[in-house]
Amino acid sequence: MLVLGIESSCDETAAAVVRSDGRVVSDVVSSQVALHAPFGGVVPELAARAHIDNVVPVIEQAVSCVPGGFQAIDAVAVTNGPGLVGALLIGVQAAKAIALSRDLPLVGVNHLIGHLLAVFLRRSDQDPAPPSYPFIALLVSGGHTALYEVRSPSDLEQLGQTRDDAAGEAFDKVAKVLGLGYPGGPKVDKLASQGNRTRVPLPRPLAGKRELEFSFSGLKTAVAQYVAAESAQMDEAHMADICAAFQHNVVSVLVDKALAACERRSVPRLVLTGGVAANRGLRALAAEACQARGVELFVPPFASCTDNAAMIAYAGSQRLILGEDDGLGLSVFSRSPILGVSAQAAEARRFKSSRMPRPSGV
Ligand code: KG4
Ligand code: ZN
Repeated sequence: MLVLGIESSCDETAAAVVRSDGRVVSDVVSSQVALHAPFGGVVPELAARAHIDNVVPVIEQAVSCVPGGFQAIDAVAVTNGPGLVGALLIGVQAAKAIALSRDLPLVGVNHLIGHLLAVFLRRSDQDPAPPSYPFIALLVSGGHTALYEVRSPSDLEQLGQTRDDAAGEAFDKVAKVLGLGYPGGPKVDKLASQGNRTRVPLPRPLAGKRELEFSFSGLKTAVAQYVAAESAQMDEAHMADICAAFQHNVVSVLVDKALAACERRSVPRLVLTGGVAANRGLRALAAEACQARGVELFVPPFASCTDNAAMIAYAGSQRLILGEDDGLGLSVFSRSPILGVSAQAAEARRFKSSRMPRPSGV
């Protein structure tokens, strides 16, 4: 089965065509980073307007790589939440138009489930084998930070999440305080590799606590207070030390809790996913700790970790295999508790304004 996936939940307009076995046929991502950078974060209204401009060319490009073009597509999957409602609506309306005009099944995909299943995408024959079920997943992005046990595409359980800021959000805010620009994660990562993490005293939030929950807002505020208290102009070496201490405190808590989850559930497989999974400090510490504890570590390639539509197409294909079809009444949602694919279908039904009959002869 060939599935066209569409993603527009935040600041990436993306479309991809993926086979239900995870093979990526095409994967197109149009990033709005430059558009939002002057504001230091995503501006929802600007994001929605940019999605309107980008969605058709991005879909056309993704489908043009498929032998047979639109004729070869068997179904459409689209992110219908969580995310910015104005942004989500653009992708969902485009998906409905395609499903209607070609009489194709249409499924909504929870963006978080897309991230959790991204490890099954096959981009080349050299890709390492994906994990077997069940596995523990640490999802760390700009909008979410949580731990899950993934038992099958339709059986997922959230084990804990952040009480406040997402890890990526904390990286972005610390970068802003240091004047490093947006998005800050990669910049903090680079500087951290040159710094000494023991020079700046910062808290390790909820470290050592039994809960599988996170909290990054206090750590972010501690950095802001430290920077505000420094009267002298800060040189790059000093900023590198701050980044190193901040990053170490974030990633060590992430790794500790992820391994605690593996232990508690007796699941010796850990998947890192989301944009922050690109962080070199996180990858290195997770590799070291997993090796020491006999846990197998899986980190998808960067293109699968960050927001993309291939993961949406794949997650959608797993719903389609179960015979699910949301039809043209599919609606969007901004926030949701994490759930399984079957629960996701129930939620999609709940959010449907009405199930519109498919016009005959179209
Ligand atoms: O998954 P993603 O592309 O979009 C969301 O769904 O949020 O994640 C983006 C986040 C941003 O906060 C960005 O700063 C962070 O991932 N990020 C990083 C790194 N690369 C991206 N954070 C830390 N280190 C990195 N190397
Ligand atoms: Zn995401």
